[in-house]
Amino acid sequence: MSGFEFGRNPEDIKGDVTRGAPTLIVLPDLRQRGSQGLDAEARLEEAQGLALAIGLDVVDSFALPIRAVRPATLFGEGQVDKIGVACEQSGAELVVVDGALSAIQQRNLESKLSRKVIDRTGLILEIFGERAATAEGRLQVELAHLDYQAGRLVRSWTHLERQRGGFGFLGGPGETQIEADRRLIRDRMARIRRELEQVRRTRSLHRERRQRAPWPVIALVGYTNAGKSTLFNRLTGADVMAEDLLFATLDPTMRAIRLPAVDKAILSDTVGFISDLPTQLVAAFRATLEEVTAADIIVHVRDVANPASAEQKREVEAILADLGVNAEDGPQVPIIEAWNKIDLLPPDERALRDDLIGQGVPDVPAVPISAVNGEGVDVLVERLGIVLTGEARTLDLTVPMADGQKLAWLHAHGEVLSERVSEDAAGLPASRLRVRLTPRELGRFYSL
Ligand code: GTP
Repeated sequence: MSGFEFGRNPEDIKGDVTRGAPTLIVLPDLRQRGSQGLDAEARLEEAQGLALAIGLDVVDSFALPIRAVRPATLFGEGQVDKIGVACEQSGAELVVVDGALSAIQQRNLESKLSRKVIDRTGLILEIFGERAATAEGRLQVELAHLDYQAGRLVRSWTHLERQRGGFGFLGGPGETQIEADRRLIRDRMARIRRELEQVRRTRSLHRERRQRAPWPVIALVGYTNAGKSTLFNRLTGADVMAEDLLFATLDPTMRAIRLPAVDKAILSDTVGFISDLPTQLVAAFRATLEEVTAADIIVHVRDVANPASAEQKREVEAILADLGVNAEDGPQVPIIEAWNKIDLLPPDERALRDDLIGQGVPDVPAVPISAVNGEGVDVLVERLGIVLTGEARTLDLTVPMADGQKLAWLHAHGEVLSERVSEDAAGLPASRLRVRLTPRELGRFYSL
């Protein structure tokens, strides 16, 4: 480790995360160590897509197998040299390491390569920062960013503390400076949390208002780039009679649409999922993703033309499970898969997929579509209508005894399977009912 320069003046480091920056992407391939998920090629392609998403100019990219993690640099010495040579040859000024780097690894690599180095979390934070459209989104991203930075300050500080005993003063920001930075970050985070609280209060008011409207909520989820926004635009476009109603101002990604037999429904687009979503962001977007858990139906948009489609499906399902969707003790939300981008499939592969669907092989209902040319979207819409009006779900509801109107409504409109006396969250006498309701009826129930 002594071969590295610590505390190098940051101004000596070339490169920045700015549009058009010539960028080298390096994937630390840890697969041999038992990691699962997308293979190296798919990961590299995805990382290129992420870099392009913020306008970086990817001049070279490759994977390097990691057999033993080096605490100082992650990569082995020869590998760091290889990265350095690749930077020189390709003219890269920014290095994106498509994995997690500790603060010290990041700093050492920057010193060694004389270039700015960011890791996957850093890159994704940059993208989210650029894309966040709503006030809440911007605050959440900033909070996640600060959290990320605070973690790095703490780590680098403890590291310097440890080093100080052995090597004497190593330069870099002094302890007081770091302490001051940490305090600044903490203060700013506290302020953002207060602002977020305010935004959330407003949003839950909106949500209450929406619940009073007996319209079911359809949530679009999917791996990043699967085509959610394209489908969203198509569904809310002229074909499906878009209506810009009440919620247009609440969030640009929520619209009321009209579906056959359902009257109106709320279509909600969510942030794209991605493998290894930084934990800071999962936490930050949990609130936004609550829309998914509260949905009446989830449309999982899949890019079936992507060779990594099956892995992407697993990633999305893991994130949904993590959010508590369809947990054993919670309400069950029906899921439909939209097998998107079929226009990109050669005819024989398409036929194969149609066959699978025909035989009912997919574990959830699936509809092949092309969000770009509209093929199959009418079938999807019809399916949504059928599920929303047709399929009753079994729900466990606790209704205060004092709320006679709600109890009477449930007995009149739902199929009550069982009922027993219990207590509500406040300890007051309540009725615990197991009842079957269609999503539309549930919407009405909430609006009582
Ligand atoms: P995130 O915002 O990253 O979550 O992506 P998204 O899921 O919203 O994907 P988006 O709708 O932005 O589409 C990604 C790319 O795929 C765009 O270039 C679309 O034009 C393209 N695309 C979407 N649907 C189709 C399709 O059915 N066929 C083809 N050929 N391309 C499609």
